[in-house]
Amino acid sequence: MTTDFRDQMKAAYDATGAAWDAGPRRIYDALAAALLDYSPVAIAGVLAVDAGAGTGAATQELLRRRASRVVAVDLSAGMLRGMTAARTSSVAVVVGDVDALPLASDHADLTVAAFVLNHVADPTATLAELARVTKPDGGVLASVFGAAPPHPSKDAIDSVAASYGFAEPGWYRVFKDARDTPLRDLRAVREHAIRAGLLNVCVDVVVVDPQLSDVDLVSWRTGMAHLAPFVRQLAPACAAQLRADAAAAVAGMPALTLTMQTLSSRAG
Ligand SMILES: C[S@@+](CC[C@H](N)C(=O)[O-])C[C@H]1O[C@@H](n2cnc3c(N)ncnc32)[C@H](O)[C@@H]1O
Repeated sequence: MTTDFRDQMKAAYDATGAAWDAGPRRIYDALAAALLDYSPVAIAGVLAVDAGAGTGAATQELLRRRASRVVAVDLSAGMLRGMTAARTSSVAVVVGDVDALPLASDHADLTVAAFVLNHVADPTATLAELARVTKPDGGVLASVFGAAPPHPSKDAIDSVAASYGFAEPGWYRVFKDARDTPLRDLRAVREHAIRAGLLNVCVDVVVVDPQLSDVDLVSWRTGMAHLAPFVRQLAPACAAQLRADAAAAVAGMPALTLTMQTLSSRAG
């Protein structure tokens, strides 16, 4: 299942890049800004790695805070291709796995892993790999979602999609049940970090309000990797109708807030 999971997840992200950059990216930008406030090292002038960079939310925020260079690594070439705002001459874009980063040891001053630990089989091993590519006194900074009731728009939008023929892909159920949910426990992230040998481990919980309209909520959900490949293969008029039905389904719902855990640490 591990190989199947990885291949299926990668294929889904590959088919998602542009939709992610147009939708979820806005939320992940807000999350990246909140995450980098917890950096254990000063960011100006650093060489940073953005591990599991996606379309570059953390990369862009690192540049905004004057990191001198960012290496953006992701398993999915499709996500990296979707990178728009963060694609500058200060960014090296590399296809690679966070469990075997194609980087020398002690390469970076700061390694950031935003919402990728919840995709891997063994977060302890991944954190140890992040530490390997980070200089001994450098920082390792990561985020995962925290424990919070799911926003009702998720089920509402997925139900509208189901009425158009969407069926939840197998990899996504594995992702939710075996990878994402266990890490929502506050103790889990800390324990993985300690087992990985990280130092000065500090886990915080932050609530982020990305200020989304109903249409933004739909772009967010329909740009996620479990749903975007389905929406993409619909005829354009049909996809537009799905979006309109989804916006009607979420009208009047409470504002979406996101609970994020931040892990701030030193590589050792
Ligand atoms: C939820 S997205 C987050 C993207 C980005 N960090 C952000 O905050 O917007 C997760 C990303 O992790 C990537 N990913 C998942 N497993 C990975 C792995 N083993 N190695 C590298 N990237 C991985 C996916 O391709 C996807 O781009």
